Amino acid sequence: MAINPNAKIGSGVEFGEGVIIEEGVEIGDKVQIGNRVTLRNCRIGSGVRIEDNSIIGYATRTGGFSHKLDGYTQREPAIIGEGTLIRTGALIYQSVTIGKNSWINHSAVLREHTRIGDHTCIGTMSDSEGYNTIGNHVLIHSQVHLCARMTVEDYVFIAPFCVFANGNPMGYARPHIEVPEEGPIIRFGVQMGVNASVMPRVVVGYEAIIAPSTVVHKDVAPLSVMAGVPARKLKTVAPELRMPLNVRHQYYQGSDDPPGVAEAGVLKK
Ligand SMILES: CC(C)(COP(=O)(O)OP(=O)(O)OC[C@H]1O[C@@H](n2cnc3c(N)ncnc32)[C@H](O)[C@@H]1OP(=O)(O)O)[C@@H](O)C(=O)NCCC(=O)NCCS
Repeated sequence: MAINPNAKIGSGVEFGEGVIIEEGVEIGDKVQIGNRVTLRNCRIGSGVRIEDNSIIGYATRTGGFSHKLDGYTQREPAIIGEGTLIRTGALIYQSVTIGKNSWINHSAVLREHTRIGDHTCIGTMSDSEGYNTIGNHVLIHSQVHLCARMTVEDYVFIAPFCVFANGNPMGYARPHIEVPEEGPIIRFGVQMGVNASVMPRVVVGYEAIIAPSTVVHKDVAPLSVMAGVPARKLKTVAPELRMPLNVRHQYYQGSDDPPGVAEAGVLKK
């Protein structure tokens, strides 16, 4: 075990074997740290559990895509909220923030400036390219790719193998092409079936359902069930498949439905 003397460690913290804790790390009370965990530039809230072989506060390498191992960029610490569980082999970069009672599963990778809310789950081997925002009570299943600069609002469900894109045109190795990095926005309560993908800048409207293997390339109206390549509307989401009314009221500021939906007559289609 190698614990830097300048690390601040709360009471009742448990350490596994081979743990490395670097300078400036702050650890709250009753944190459980598994075997071979490395804590670099991070603050860990009370009651957090970090399982074996995880790394938190990993530094961003400089040089971008140039393959030059020329150093690391120092950013603000990663912050892990109280009661969050980090499962074996997770890799969390510095400047990531995770709220309370969230769950980061086996071998997930969260790159810099990923912001995750409370009670949210990131599935096994899923990755976030960073500079994105993921809300509260979100369930992201296994092997999902979250591109940079996207937003996932509260109570979204994303099934395995879903993919989100942010570069259109792609422009790889073509410096004459400007590639704006603009990820999609996935609104409150959306549910996405396995293997669906969403293209850059697309807004998937409130409580929409995206069928498996659908490619969404245009904005989706709230409460639409979409399927196919390219995505077409099948129907309107059935009332019994919607979010519970009390949660909707909270989110839609007292209203049963998302803004603009009643006026557009979406629910009658
Ligand atoms: C999309 C879904 C919600 C629609 O369910 P449903 O309302 O019961 O609708 P149906 O299954 O009756 O399908 C309605 C039509 O859409 C078509 N359809 C359904 N899923 C489709 C898909 N992924 N791609 C293309 N068309 C699809 C059906 O063929 C059917 O067409 P038809 O009327 O011409 O026969 C459901 O099929 C589904 O796939 N759920 C998600 C499964 C999933 O990924 N779960 C994740 C668990 S981890």
